[in-house]
Amino acid sequence: MVVAIARRGSFAVVTVDSPPVNALSQAVRQGLWDAAEALDADASVEGVVLVCAGRTFIAGADVTEFGKPPVPPHLPDLVARIEGAAKPWTAAIHGSALGGGLEVALGCRFRVALASASLGLPEVTLGLVPGAGGTVRTPRLVGVEAAVDMITTGKPVKAEKARALGLVDAVVDGDLTDAAIAFASEAIGRELPPAAREREIADPGETFWDEARAAVAKRARGEVAPLKALACVRRAAESGFADAMAFERETFLALRGSPQAAALRHIFFAERAAPRPPELAGIEPRALRKAAVVGGGTMGAGIAAALRDVGLPVVLIERDAEALARGLANVRSIYDGAAKRGRITPALAQDRIAGVTGSVDDAALADADIVIEAVFEDLDVKRAVFARLGAACRPDAVLATNTSYLDPRAISEGLPGSERFLGLHFFSPAHVMKLIEIVPAPSTAPDVLATGFALARLLGKIPVRAGICDGFIGNRILKGSRVQVEKLLLSGATPQRIDAAMKGFGMPMGPLEAQDLSGLDISAFQRKAARARGETPFAPVAERLCAMNRLGQKTKGGWYDYAEGGRAPIPSPEVARQIAEAVAETGWPQRAWTDAEIVDMIVLPMVNEGARILEDGIALRVSDIDLVKVHGYGFPRWRGGPMHDAQARGLAEIVAVLDGLAAQGLADAPSPLLRRAAETGHF
Ligand code: NAI
Repeated sequence: MVVAIARRGSFAVVTVDSPPVNALSQAVRQGLWDAAEALDADASVEGVVLVCAGRTFIAGADVTEFGKPPVPPHLPDLVARIEGAAKPWTAAIHGSALGGGLEVALGCRFRVALASASLGLPEVTLGLVPGAGGTVRTPRLVGVEAAVDMITTGKPVKAEKARALGLVDAVVDGDLTDAAIAFASEAIGRELPPAAREREIADPGETFWDEARAAVAKRARGEVAPLKALACVRRAAESGFADAMAFERETFLALRGSPQAAALRHIFFAERAAPRPPELAGIEPRALRKAAVVGGGTMGAGIAAALRDVGLPVVLIERDAEALARGLANVRSIYDGAAKRGRITPALAQDRIAGVTGSVDDAALADADIVIEAVFEDLDVKRAVFARLGAACRPDAVLATNTSYLDPRAISEGLPGSERFLGLHFFSPAHVMKLIEIVPAPSTAPDVLATGFALARLLGKIPVRAGICDGFIGNRILKGSRVQVEKLLLSGATPQRIDAAMKGFGMPMGPLEAQDLSGLDISAFQRKAARARGETPFAPVAERLCAMNRLGQKTKGGWYDYAEGGRAPIPSPEVARQIAEAVAETGWPQRAWTDAEIVDMIVLPMVNEGARILEDGIALRVSDIDLVKVHGYGFPRWRGGPMHDAQARGLAEIVAVLDGLAAQGLADAPSPLLRRAAETGHF
């Protein structure tokens, strides 16, 4: 029985017990429906308390029912049934009341919550709107403005804020069921407040809706669902309950089959699959109680903060006292910045800063369970560091490198006990970015690999297993994109046109703006290493800029000019001159480009490289490639990543476009795997 009824005096306690998160499966919906029927018929029942067993209230829809035809009782009917019950229901909320879970609670006459609970309508994050009255009842309880905020962002609110908004009636502590019964018996003694559907709703007027529309469109650029959610709340404010419910349902059903909802579901499931690879099932990770980071530059400081944020004590190792002072200052500035922006309290910032100690003495590494190296991207320097770590660390300590491009096998060559070594490739800024590429070497022990995944879970990050190659998954694709950008520049597309087209596609930044932010020297180093390996990297324009020390924002000029202290890209006549000279030198034919063609020139080769990455066994699953692009490089989540996006557009068309570009020397021909996938329509 997933729904049980017990008596507590004149109250009935309805308990949902459907692990792991009490999702609204058909069985749960039916159980609640039957409970409402039975309790309405029981004259001895004065009120009903709805609680959930386990770690949370009803946390949302049942994801296993996604994409299947809905079976009655339908959620909107169930919520209406509870709302219309003869006996008032009180939702007793702990953990999360999300999506359909919150909609059930909105059907109850009262809501009480533990202080630790959170409530929200995250449907837009799956490309949907609430489908069971969330957009109609919420504004009736909290007002239009707060409802718009909650529903168009999908962000949950904590119990205390929910109480201040009017979403819950009381925040309680102690035994939740006792507290809910106590609250309800007192409330029922007074005159009952109207059910949510009966409440007044004030329409804030045209100006509010215009501004809200502009704000949502700006924040959720390219996304369909947030604007649809806004339209639902507007309908609730402007028309009657029944009409708004019908409009919401219609919107929900239309979005459910939309390409964006499919893309967002794809990423949702990819994220759930990534942290627990089946091949590591049953393998115990090593304990993680204390961490060390070697190198306190951009990445080391960010990694130290990420570790510290989840409560691990961290020691930062630098090469000398001066560098250590800089490294600790880097950590401090991360937390000072967070405190200044109001993300954490100054006291918490101090606590976090104090939890990162520094040392120039390897003896400080003796009790670390995991050491993450983030020194210069130089094989000799890294090798020397690992030789030292081998001597200074416990033999069971996990030793990881954050290298971007170097071969982990070469880095660990001189390391005694190389089974404890692996690559953990964080992204910048490491305390913010969710992605970690986990790169085992052939020598890496399974429990060390499992520890890498356990660390990612502990940090709340998304781990993707990657094989060894130049750039692993993400930077290997990025390298190819840079070549495509060069080809565009040489054949008539300006930096501004390229960046505008890619932003129009949904990228938060254009590829050239992004290079200016991270520095053109990073790829220059990589090309130098490639030349040393006998390769001939293609970057005629970038090489010119590097030779002029135009390295990006940090040198006040890269692909764009930057005003003193400014970050806004200004088109550069110098860059235009360099491009013209490179064109003259290489003799590339000029042509006109549409935005769609520019996007195809950059995105379709990403798909092709992704297919080669799969073919080479560098990525285990196609969805991992999508996760890397979405979480490491800002590829729009609502497109589901490049591989999903290509599949949605049609792989046969992708192959045809790539063949056309290849015939003009503008891209590589489709890989064998991509051609095979085009025959079936999927990877
Ligand atoms: P960085 O130059 O900002 O910092 C490197 C730090 O290592 C410096 O503070 C330096 O004093 C320290 N260091 C050098 N030799 C050392 C030694 N023998 N012992 C202790 N400390 C030493 O470099 P960044 O950008 O932080 O990169 C570090 C590593 O992370 C590189 O391998 C890089 O490829 C990788 N990486 C960088 C990303 C980025 O966006 N910057 C992204 C992902 C990985």
